[in-house]
Amino acid sequence: MTLAITPGTFDPITYGHLDIIKRATSIFDEVLVAVAISTPKHTLFDIDKRVELAKLSIEELGIKNARVVSFDGLLFEFAKEQNATAIVKGLRAITDFEYEFQMNALNRQLDYTFETTFIMSPPKYMYLSSSIVRELASLNADTTKFVPPCVSEALKKKFS
Ligand code: PNS
Repeated sequence: MTLAITPGTFDPITYGHLDIIKRATSIFDEVLVAVAISTPKHTLFDIDKRVELAKLSIEELGIKNARVVSFDGLLFEFAKEQNATAIVKGLRAITDFEYEFQMNALNRQLDYTFETTFIMSPPKYMYLSSSIVRELASLNADTTKFVPPCVSEALKKKFS
């Protein structure tokens, strides 16, 4: 039984995240979508809402073998607790690589009982990020091309 963890802030979850999650489910038996409770970033949505939107989005897209949980503290400790086979991260551009390279090196020093695996974003989601989506929504732009319906509704409500 292989278990992958796809961690993130998911503020909010986007079609870019969901593409990575879906592809991870085709490689691993189970995927745990781990939503970080504490983050240095100020979040638009609180932890309960970020988890709820991730769960609803996965349901809406009919992604099987993925579960959503929240986690606190260090990712490598959580991955160890869960007996994860791998941490899966999406890579969009060179800028992501620099950060992920550093995180991977750090986690590898702290614990090396699991792998970090990278899945490349498809070109249509390479530019997509939660921060871009939040900015679009704050300017009352349509976000339906970038996030599932439940998320675009939640964004509309937030900025109305
Ligand atoms: O979606 P994001 O914001 O890129 O996700 C970042 C996340 C949550 C994966 C990262 O901040 C994280 O792993 N947080 C848990 C704490 C941790 O282990 N930090 C790394 C060492 S300081």
